[in-house]
Amino acid sequence: MLKERERGRFITLEGGEGSGKSTQALRLASALALCGVPVLRTREPGGAPGSERIRGLLLGGGGWDGVAETMLHFAARREHLARTIIPALSAGIWVVSDRFVDSTLAYQCFAQGVPRRVWDDLAALSLEGVWPDLTFILDLAPEEGLARAAARGPVNRYEALDLAFHARVRDGFRAVAALAPARCVLLDATDSPEGIAAAILGIVRARLRLPS
Ligand code: TYD
Repeated sequence: MLKERERGRFITLEGGEGSGKSTQALRLASALALCGVPVLRTREPGGAPGSERIRGLLLGGGGWDGVAETMLHFAARREHLARTIIPALSAGIWVVSDRFVDSTLAYQCFAQGVPRRVWDDLAALSLEGVWPDLTFILDLAPEEGLARAAARGPVNRYEALDLAFHARVRDGFRAVAALAPARCVLLDATDSPEGIAAAILGIVRARLRLPS
């Protein structure tokens, strides 16, 4: 779909609640910009006007059928890809996204019990082969992550779910890292933010060619 030679690189940050993804997305985007890389930082659910409206539905209240909820995440993602991510990559802009497709596998499939084939089918349909070049998964015990999230302010409806749910989210992300080692790097989120940022930048430099 995209011409490889001109394409920007697509990097995603994943992990459970309070794992520091947003901080690291900001640090990585700033570091890349300092290296002269054109970069766009974005997030899910959201990242495009229609996707932000769907975010309001998803975070505004629960009670969804699990497959319907998964479809809503993918509808938001498709809009995000079509309106924001693909145009940026096509223009040679690097994209750093705070959450992407692996969050749906961890939260909806591993934690909520939606069948994996639903994710496989929706990912094939909505991504059309546009997968991240590199994914960082920030691994943290849910007890610590939820405490960090609660200290930051009011919690969203996923954060309010019980510890067992968040333990399954963590297991899901660890399984993703084990299943896709060429794309995913698992990082210990208890390290210092500076240390994690340096590790991420080092891996980006080593694995993805920065434009000269
Ligand atoms: P947000 O406030 O952005 O939380 P965070 O800072 O942890 O990213 O809320 C997004 C919530 O949506 C988060 O709790 C995880 C959940 N989520 C899913 O359940 N499935 C998904 O596919 C995505 C992208 C997010």
